[in-house]
Amino acid sequence: MESQGIKRNIFQRILGIPATDLPRDAHSWAFSNGRIVLDLERVPELKKPGGAVRLEKKGLPERVLVIHDGEGVFHAFRNRCGHGGRRLDPVPGDPSLQCCSVGKSTYDHAGTVLSGPANSPIAVYRVDAEGAKLTIHLE
Ligand code: FES
Repeated sequence: MESQGIKRNIFQRILGIPATDLPRDAHSWAFSNGRIVLDLERVPELKKPGGAVRLEKKGLPERVLVIHDGEGVFHAFRNRCGHGGRRLDPVPGDPSLQCCSVGKSTYDHAGTVLSGPANSPIAVYRVDAEGAKLTIHLE
């Protein structure tokens, strides 16, 4: 299967530059005791279905990709491709994620490899949505 939905040129793919950005408001989330708590009011990037942000540093043991899918459900994933460790992006209009590198390994929302050179799934984290608060459980 070849996903066509993510526009990345060959240089972006060689360098492993993802399409998904960090939240513009760096104070919109915090990590402690194995949990990320994110304030959706401060992350407009996640308001619409199809939106996504990547969360990094601030003591996180792993990079995390958070997406708002086409059904209005939030998902969180370990943001590290099972092939070479590059970052992932949601595929617009499709319930899948794709590695930003040349190999384009593609995964479903259960973390299973659908195509590409990756031979291991990605971790999927539990997400609880309560009002404007998302809690992502890394443990
Ligand atoms: S690092 Fe993802 S396909 Fe190679």
